[in-house]
Amino acid sequence: MIAKPDSKTQGFSTRAIHAGQEPEPATGAVNVPIYASSTYVQEEIGKHKGYEYSRVSNPTRDRLETNLAALEGGIAAKVFASGMAAINAVATMLKSGDHVVAGHNLYGGTPRLFNQVLANFGLSFTYVDTSNVKNVEKALQKNTRLVFLETPTNPLMELCDVHAISDVSHRHGAEVVVDNTFMSPYFQRPLELGADMVIHSTTKFLNGHSDGLGGVVVCTKAEQVEKLAFLQKAAGAIMSPFECWLILRGVKTLAVRMEQHDRNGRKVAEYLARHKKVQKVFYPGLPDHAQHKLAKKQMTGFGAMISFETGSLANANKMLRKVRVCSLAESLGGVETLISHPATMTHAAVGPEGRRKIGITDGMVRISVGIEDVDDILADLEQALAAI
Ligand SMILES: Cc1ncc(COP(=O)(O)O)c(C=O)c1O
Repeated sequence: MIAKPDSKTQGFSTRAIHAGQEPEPATGAVNVPIYASSTYVQEEIGKHKGYEYSRVSNPTRDRLETNLAALEGGIAAKVFASGMAAINAVATMLKSGDHVVAGHNLYGGTPRLFNQVLANFGLSFTYVDTSNVKNVEKALQKNTRLVFLETPTNPLMELCDVHAISDVSHRHGAEVVVDNTFMSPYFQRPLELGADMVIHSTTKFLNGHSDGLGGVVVCTKAEQVEKLAFLQKAAGAIMSPFECWLILRGVKTLAVRMEQHDRNGRKVAEYLARHKKVQKVFYPGLPDHAQHKLAKKQMTGFGAMISFETGSLANANKMLRKVRVCSLAESLGGVETLISHPATMTHAAVGPEGRRKIGITDGMVRISVGIEDVDDILADLEQALAAI
């Protein structure tokens, strides 16, 4: 029997390729099989090989959960049918009467879930600018159980200090959850900074190929794992074995993809910052970003997510109609460059007043820089921006 890789001492890429991805024992297949089985045969009542029904557990899913826990440095992970299903699972670990402090600029679907669904079940939410830890401290109440953060935020690219916010939240008895979708565990590991759980939309960088939806919650405590396993069984929003397999495959190249995303991201941000028609660029890797110092301390790369201001809805539309290498589409984190319009896409649900309050304008464009040849991306942006 070959010894299992030690997920604590091995490097990131080794863990991405091997943690949970050991050869399949029956045949030696180097790739984890897709166990497309809803149920498992039992020898006698209660005697089985650890699997009874795939809503409860599935071997392909187990392997992915082991892998993602190793990448974030958690004790275990639980995967769900989408990023939103993962966020919903975390929120439904709470009880009626509990309070959540959340960042004021999250992916638009998150406050939609909080305000339009979960508030109807007795949870309450306070939204603050989490770029300042004092705002979080002021918002904490006796019944605050959770502090929900995104860093960098979507699409304003504001950071929050995970270490400082974790300290203050823990003193008040609240746990900290970080949506780490934008950075991936390759560039940022919130659990090492003191957070209690990490969530991802695996739809994005972890999968990396824009061909499947999913979500994950990575845990630091046995009670969290137990509650989430119960929610998988009770509520059933689990990830399918096929989607698990896509992510197991995608994650093997996470490190090399993220390096290339980051190299291209920096070049695109610098290009946009120099462009006369671009009024402002939001990217933590630029020295004039208000939290550039924190970015260097908290992250090991700046990533591929950039927002920029074109001045008006008409300007945004003029350029977005012209892109050819970049694809005008929602989502992010794929190998292809995706360009989107937050006000009408990801943050439409926030409403015009909500967007105005936090500074998402109609002229803002968000780009998820892919891993194509960067000169082709730059040439495409050049010809598209010429339309303004
Ligand atoms: C930061 C972030 N979190 C969560 C989600 C939701 O993930 P999904 O679309 O997989 O449900 C998204 C989707 O765009 C996102 O950008």
